[in-house]
Amino acid sequence: MKISIVGTGYVGLVTGTCFAETGINVTCVDIDENKIKNLKQAIIPIYEPGLETLVKKNLEKQRISFTTSLKESIDQTDVVFIAVGTPPGEDGSADLSHVLNVAREIGKNMTHHLVVVTKSTVPIGTSVKVKAAIRDELEKRGAQIPFDVASNPEFLKEGNAIEDFLKPDRIVVGVENEKAQTIMSRLYKPFVLNNHPILFMDIPSAELTKYAANAMLATKISFINDIANLCELVGADINMVRKGIGTDSRIGNKFIYAGAGYGGSCFPKDVKAIIKTAEKNNYPLRLLQAVEAINDDQKKVLVNKVKNHFKDDLKGKTFAIWGLAFKPNTDDMREAPSRVIIRHLLDAGAKVHAYDPVATHEAQSIFGDEITYGKDPYDVLIEADALLLVTEWPEFRMPNFKVMEKLMKNKVIFDGRNIYDPQEINENGFDYYGIGRKSIRE
Ligand code: UDX
Repeated sequence: MKISIVGTGYVGLVTGTCFAETGINVTCVDIDENKIKNLKQAIIPIYEPGLETLVKKNLEKQRISFTTSLKESIDQTDVVFIAVGTPPGEDGSADLSHVLNVAREIGKNMTHHLVVVTKSTVPIGTSVKVKAAIRDELEKRGAQIPFDVASNPEFLKEGNAIEDFLKPDRIVVGVENEKAQTIMSRLYKPFVLNNHPILFMDIPSAELTKYAANAMLATKISFINDIANLCELVGADINMVRKGIGTDSRIGNKFIYAGAGYGGSCFPKDVKAIIKTAEKNNYPLRLLQAVEAINDDQKKVLVNKVKNHFKDDLKGKTFAIWGLAFKPNTDDMREAPSRVIIRHLLDAGAKVHAYDPVATHEAQSIFGDEITYGKDPYDVLIEADALLLVTEWPEFRMPNFKVMEKLMKNKVIFDGRNIYDPQEINENGFDYYGIGRKSIRE
């Protein structure tokens, strides 16, 4: 079997590499010549644990190749995945121009039957547009080549993408006929061996599944954050409440950790997009509107605590930030709570020293020299008025309080992910503020 993947972004590159792992022949296409040049040498544009090694291995085994020519790539291919970006347009709905351009290119260049699979997260109804674009180009050529469209949303998490792809909770595929279903089930056979189900359904259901899954997860997070804020007002502890509700198997214990809000490339974009789709159908999704509004506010909770502690006078004060990426194990800062927190601190006249194990270069492209960047966690603590823990990287979990005490001007920790034990922090002489739990002041 031979497949091609158009778009070597996060989803495209992981998808291509993992399919190559199963022994099939994969061609990855991108219009970015520089990216393709680098990928040919296994230089990958993103930070994702394990990806570089797998790209290198499959390049050596000649199971994966990279090209800028879509025409070349679909020669003798059975399946083409469209995995290009769908950035939010000005009104929040997904911009489909890249997806539809690829569909047109496929229509212009295809010479035999193809299954054209949408892998990018696209609004409901996109497969119909993809089909129309391909058909239109075929008609212009006067060509009568059969093809099928399919929708195969991706559920991988950044930082765990390889594992998620190789051992999926489930694979969702929307198809229109048996032929496409047979081809797709053959392709995914290696991944469903150990009871990982493949769910075939109609295309609109597959398209909506992706949005509904992310919207549900975002809802869990905004729900727990809302309850966390209530905990503080009534003297409860969100960690206790979390355990108390999470042991109910109907609720489950995952994705109910209170924090500084959700970020990343998926949740914020997808919640916006599903709200938009519903609006277009004259059905406002009131619950998800609230989920979004709660999350926007939650990104400010930590900085509000800082302002309260310092009685609204942050001018000239120095704050150390631990963690810039929207979550651990990625350098991605899209919609990261750290961006909102840092912007508020700067606007209030404070200085910011930030450290992240891998996202420094990303932060530099956002904040430039408005903030300074440390080489290690302790570096940024020098003369700091407080520490704000924003991303729960493992290396922040067991800090050396004796060293911290010597470096910092004020002994205050704002724990935006509840990773510390307030009692332990307090025994070490620090003031402690968490999310949804009692703060402890000396
Ligand atoms: C998510 C989905 O999990 C994935 O299935 C989908 O394909 C893309 O979107 P990702 O964006 O990589 O993946 O991140 P994820 O690990 O899900 O975390 C999202 C955000 O939620 C992070 O900012 C994280 O800090 C936050 N989060 C997560 C919480 O605040 N509390 C939790 O309990 C869990």
